[in-house]
Amino acid sequence: MSDNILICRCEDITEEMVKEALDSGITTLEEIKRFLRAGMGPCQGRTCGPILRSMLARKLNTSLQNIEEWRKRPPLKPVTVSAFIQVEGEES
Ligand code: FES
Repeated sequence: MSDNILICRCEDITEEMVKEALDSGITTLEEIKRFLRAGMGPCQGRTCGPILRSMLARKLNTSLQNIEEWRKRPPLKPVTVSAFIQVEGEES
């Protein structure tokens, strides 16, 4: 099976890129995020987060419960910029 499978489709991060990062000594999801930008796309890691967490647990030979999830930062769901702009005369 190819290592060019997209793991993070928002940031075009492949399985091969994740494996290389894990082989370089990365041991947390936050490090993966900072190193590869995985989880920083429009879906904010909702798609790739569980896959990356699973890959990290497998690499560290531990259970998923031992892998800390990404810190949640608002907004918790993607929103358009217009959601933050209140036009005069419009109700929010
Ligand atoms: S799939 Fe990774 S941020 Fe969306």
